[in-house]
Amino acid sequence: MKPIKALVFDLYGTLYDVHSVAGACGERFPGRGLEISILWRQKQLEYTWLRTLMGDYVPFEKATDDALDFVASHLKLSLTTAAHKDLCDAYLRLQPYPGVEATLTSLRERGLPLAILSNGSSFSIGSVVKNSGLDHLFDHLISVESTKVFKPHDAVYRLAENALGWSRDEILFVSSNGWDACGARHFGYQVCWVNRNGNTLDVLGQKPDFAVTDLRELPDLVGNAVMS
Ligand code: LAC
Repeated sequence: MKPIKALVFDLYGTLYDVHSVAGACGERFPGRGLEISILWRQKQLEYTWLRTLMGDYVPFEKATDDALDFVASHLKLSLTTAAHKDLCDAYLRLQPYPGVEATLTSLRERGLPLAILSNGSSFSIGSVVKNSGLDHLFDHLISVESTKVFKPHDAVYRLAENALGWSRDEILFVSSNGWDACGARHFGYQVCWVNRNGNTLDVLGQKPDFAVTDLRELPDLVGNAVMS
């Protein structure tokens, strides 16, 4: 395996907890925050995949918005237009997982360039990163929007390889989303799957090179990979 020269991170669910929005959902629908948030995330992902298959790209915010419409209808929740907007805006203020800042700082201190590659629009990625005060840690914030398809399409993974200037087998792609880890491995990145919850890997003919249970394991893992 080649030494690692740069790292690329998925955003939603990897660096930032998408279920941060459960709090805002629970304020409006007490006791149902996580239920709403889980279904919302699942539908958001499905809509990105289905839109890509249909060749009918919409920005990530629109997929998020449409997914919330589905959830409200499916769970029979009464949502005003203002409440709908408030909940979608909560996606711009997601919380980073514990240890993200320290981990990224440690990786940067080793001289490794860091990027985010996300299905989010540039506006969403920029907002989430800035609102959490972590914008100084990234060399590149890369959105799918120029490709008009979503991950796990190869065209998206190519964006980060082009931006970083290293070949794909010298870049470590880090994701907690098993399907994203498989997509990145299929493209040819070295891949680390951050499996916090003991999930089962999707059966897609790909296997991540590394698996950790916590992002804080990355500096040691990368240190060993750099030396090997
Ligand atoms: C992203 C989602 C898919 O950040 O997690 O691209």
